[in-house]
Amino acid sequence: MKLRAIAAATALAAAAVAPMAANAMDAENAVKYRQQVMKAIGGHTNNVVMILKGEVPYSDQLLPSAQMLADTADLALLPFEENTADSGVKTTATADVWNNWDKFSGGIKMMQERTDTLVAAVESGDKGAIGEAVQAVAETCKNCHDNFREK
Ligand code: HEC
Repeated sequence: MKLRAIAAATALAAAAVAPMAANAMDAENAVKYRQQVMKAIGGHTNNVVMILKGEVPYSDQLLPSAQMLADTADLALLPFEENTADSGVKTTATADVWNNWDKFSGGIKMMQERTDTLVAAVESGDKGAIGEAVQAVAETCKNCHDNFREK
């Protein structure tokens, strides 16, 4: 554990000394990174829903979970800018992401706006507004996955 942490820190230090040029990024890492961002978005979304449904008694974590969701949503566009459609790397993103970039990026922006609205609703404490905001966020996930992600 300790050794792994040291190795990771060393790798981080090396990365800091020699920042990789954007064009040197390999497609496999681009896909891995964006999937990890999506996974984090999925985790925060699921936790918000579990708290709201009362499946866990962690209501104090509702606001920070919503905030992490909104913050992570803000990271989601950049890692899709790398077009990996012809890279041969395994991905569930369809080529339409890049063929129809305006619609795709519009979907990401809508998720960003709606997760911000969710944070505001949670801050207000208005249960009706929170429910509507969660629903609106979930729609952005589904719409985009239906259009740009293979089952
Ligand atoms: C505008 C498009 C878009 C929006 C909005 C979007 N996603 Fe995604 N999502 C994708 C695409 C494309 C992939 C496939 C990425 C890949 O395999 O390279 C994906 C993949 C995922 C994955 C699987 C990640 C993995 O490990 O392979 C999860 C989980 C996920 N999204 C959750 C969500 C949730 C939850 C939301 C809403 C809060 C959301 N997504 C909103 C486009 C979107």
